[in-house]
Formats: sequence, structure tokens, C-alpha cells
Amino acid sequence: MSESHYRKGIILAGGAGSRLYPLTVSVSKQLLPVYDKPMIYYPLSTLMLAGIRQILVVSSPEHVAGYERLLGDGGRLGLQIQYAVQPRPDGLPQAFDIGREFIAEDNVALILGDNIFFGQSFQMTLEAAAVRPEGATIFTYRVRNPQRYGVVEMDADEKPVALAEKPSSPRSNLAVTGLYFFDNEVVDIAAQVTPSARGETEIIDVIAAYLERGRLFVEGLGRGFAWLDTGTHDSLLQGSNFIAAIEKRQGLKIACVEEVAYLKGFISGDELRALAEPLDEEYRHYLLSLLDG
Ligand code: DAU
Repeated sequence: MSESHYRKGIILAGGAGSRLYPLTVSVSKQLLPVYDKPMIYYPLSTLMLAGIRQILVVSSPEHVAGYERLLGDGGRLGLQIQYAVQPRPDGLPQAFDIGREFIAEDNVALILGDNIFFGQSFQMTLEAAAVRPEGATIFTYRVRNPQRYGVVEMDADEKPVALAEKPSSPRSNLAVTGLYFFDNEVVDIAAQVTPSARGETEIIDVIAAYLERGRLFVEGLGRGFAWLDTGTHDSLLQGSNFIAAIEKRQGLKIACVEEVAYLKGFISGDELRALAEPLDEEYRHYLLSLLDG
């Protein structure tokens, strides 16, 4: 792989989760199970696949301790994980203000804690973004209901020309997924965006600033790819069923953070063996089987 320009990533795992009440009254949405793992394992493994090892988890004041209990300082996975609080869910761009010190002079990836990506060659797609020293990269996915998402319009040369957040009459069916790679300018750009009609600052306005500067790159996730929604009870259940079906059919786990840490060389075989020790039999055998080659 060419040199990566991304060492740092933020997982945004706050929000009220009110669409999933009563599930999320006392439990943070991104800690809910998606089949056999907490939801946050999926975006965490995405950052890890991109080679990112310095991670800031941002959550609400009442829930941040739950993430610390789950992930600790990340050392057991060969990561450095820090935590920060978002007092109120006032918009995704706040992540860059909250993460200002963490980001410092570096580029940064942002992933929403409820976004699940799965598909072949994903690592190559991530690498295509990570090797860009400047600009921003977004990842698009064709959906049936673009009104629910940020949407990007492309021209005949596959260049982005317009962006809109939850448009009532979308000009394309390409959703902007919740994974973004930004150069360091994002910290200043995010500080300048103003709240939209729904009273929140919008990530689409941050992306639009890159589009205006001619520095927005778009990676399309193709039809063999899965970008799963976890926003409603039905989509959460469907997500669990999807992960279960693939894992059972293939005998391979999706978003197994211990496996990704080992395959990426973040931890040794001995460290993997130690991680496997306290887990349930099936998960333990799975991890130990990785050591056999
Ligand atoms: O999932 C992709 C979509 O995510 C994009 O297509 C949209 O452009 C983007 O605005 C976002 O749309 P959502 O409607 O899904 O945003 P929502 O407000 O639901 O927030 C997404 C997640 O981020 C959610 O799990 C809660 C968390 N969140 C949200 C806000 C506004 C925070 O942690 N802090 C916040 O301030």
C-alpha cells in the first residue's frame, strides 16, 4: 500500500437514539447488539481496516462511560482509544471541535457509530481515500430512499456537482454514507458552518465546502456491497439477520475487532491467544483458528 495520510479517526456515538425508544432509554444506541457484537464494533473495525490506530470515541455525557468499559484504552487491540463528551447532539460537525486537540495538525477520518459497511475489496476502497494527502473523500451508496440521507449528484464524468441533506426531491439516488476522510482544514471549515433549519449543523455543509474548492473525491460502493441501516427497529433486526446469515454461511466473522487487529499486525499471535481466553467457546475457537493459518 502507498503511504497512508490518515492515522486518526473519530467515532461519533452520541445522539438521543429516540427513534429506538425504549431500547435506548438507558443504553446508548451504538452499544446495542447487531447479532453477536455491539454496534460500535462495526465502525471501529472499518477504521482499523483503514490502518487507523488512534481513535477518539465521542458520546453523550450519560453514555461515554459505557464505551470506556467496553473498549478501555484500546491497548489490547493495539490501538490508542480516547474518549470525549458531546454535551448535546447539536450536529455531526461538532466532532471536529470536540476533537480539536486530538486531531492537532493531522488529517482525520470520521465515522458514525451506527454505520455498518461490509463487502469485498473494502480495504482497497479505504486505501484509495487514505493515500490522498489533501481534500475530502466521501463514500456513496445507491439507495431506494435517498430522501432519508445526504445525497450527492454526479455529472457525466463521475465528478460531484451538488450535495443536499435529506432533499424532498432528490436529484440522484446516491446516498452519502456516514464515513468521511478529511484533511486538517476540516477543523476550520466545521467551525464556520451554521445550523440548518432542523437546528443542527450539517456534515453535508462541511462536505460542500470541499466541493466548492474543487477538492471533494467520491468513492462509490458498488452493488455487491452492503451499507446497513440501524435507525429503526426493523432495520436493526434486518441488520442482525444479515450479519448472522453471512457469518453462519461462511464461517467467517464480520467486524471481529480481535481478528482485524491480528491480521493488520496491530497485535501478535500470543496477544490474540490471550484475548481469546475469556470469550465464549465459539468466539474463542474462531480466534484460535486464525493462529493455525
Ligand atoms: O448515515 C448516513 C447519514 O448520516 C448521512 O447520509 C447524512 O448526510 C448525515 O447527516 C447523517 O444523517 P442522519 O439522519 O442519520 O443523522 P443523525 O442525526 O441521525 O445522526 C447520525 C448518528 O450520529 C446517530 O447515530 C447519532 C449520532 N449523532 C448525531 C448528532 C446530530 C451524534 O453522536 N451527535 C450529534 O450531534
